[in-house]
Amino acid sequence: MFRVNEDYLKLPGSYLFSMIGRKVAAFTQANPDKKIIRLGIGDVTQPLAPAIIESLHSAVDEMAHAETFRGYAPDLGYEFLRKAMAENDYQSKGCEIKADEIFISDGAKCDSGNIQEIFAKDNKIAVCDPVYPVYVDTNVMAGRTGSYDAGTETWSDVIYMPCTKETDFAPELPKETPDIIYLCFPNNPTGSTITKPQLQEWVDYANKVGAVIIYDAAYEAYITEKNVPHTIYECVGARTCAIELRSFSKNAGFTGVRLGATVIPKDLKAGDVMLHSLWARRHGTKYNGAPYIVQRAGEAVYSEAGKVQLQEQIDYYMRNAGVIYKGLKDAGYNVSGGVNAPYIWLETPKGMTSWEFFDYLLEKANVVGTPGSGFGPSGEGYFRLTAFGSYENTAAAIERIKAL
Ligand code: MLT
Repeated sequence: MFRVNEDYLKLPGSYLFSMIGRKVAAFTQANPDKKIIRLGIGDVTQPLAPAIIESLHSAVDEMAHAETFRGYAPDLGYEFLRKAMAENDYQSKGCEIKADEIFISDGAKCDSGNIQEIFAKDNKIAVCDPVYPVYVDTNVMAGRTGSYDAGTETWSDVIYMPCTKETDFAPELPKETPDIIYLCFPNNPTGSTITKPQLQEWVDYANKVGAVIIYDAAYEAYITEKNVPHTIYECVGARTCAIELRSFSKNAGFTGVRLGATVIPKDLKAGDVMLHSLWARRHGTKYNGAPYIVQRAGEAVYSEAGKVQLQEQIDYYMRNAGVIYKGLKDAGYNVSGGVNAPYIWLETPKGMTSWEFFDYLLEKANVVGTPGSGFGPSGEGYFRLTAFGSYENTAAAIERIKAL
């Protein structure tokens, strides 16, 4: 008789965004006349930039001819894209990352969930609280997190690093020593950032205690302030302690196209084992590479036209962030984020829990956001709004919230 992976049975509830989707679907069915504005999941709304569309079209045309047709992609990614990323995302910033240290994938969500597979089962993870739920849930599935305490909504074998108003929504070095540290800056969900000297402290700490940092840089394109690092490899010593996750979803609107990358420097070792080799082995065994046409689209992100068009797209979303931030502040809310990130983090009013505020906003303003408690216990009493809507919807949502 087969048996299931019982670690899956330990997962409480369903995936946060699936739960929100179900609640919104039920509300829409009961209230078909209401015009819902969705500022919940961080999904983009603007069409792909012309440079990307052009590249997609021409790659599709290549697939129509035997001479230019492509079958399986190289499992670690096409050289043209790895080279473009190495040059533009790293070498141009003075960071020593080579093309063959970049692994192309179909998105940062999968990579952030899969990367834990190359670590020992008894490794201890440290996460920010609140946190993007994928980091914790995938470690639960792998049996690495101990038992769940429904009262505190925490796992016995996870080190939580509270990111609260008091810490400026940044984590402090943990008292207990972790093996794997997940960091995401600009942060999802709080929209907070840390400066380069602050990130350097984490790199120094990880090198000192022998931990690895999994650094999720999915939102780096939204950085507007000079002292905020775009990649962890800006820090001295990061090559021996950090893996970086990159996404094309937020900087180029690829949420439906799917493309991401993981960077593993060859200097990152456990004893004499290179993590690079383990990830290459895993990638080669379990993955057949992102589609050629999608990788060509990714290459266009780094073209001169692509860079200009995508900056315009980011400016568009950041204008929304400004509208949300200012509108809520004017309405008396305590708000943060939205300066280097497309997420705005607000304190729920009148002592409402995060889910109470979710229901309130859905029913009274027909606006969907994300309850902070869905990201961890320190998110209770908070709520996240995304700047990825259209400008018109964003402005309308804020007017509705102000009118409550
Ligand atoms: C979010 O809303 O947190 C993100 O869109 C989720 C994701 O990128 O997978």
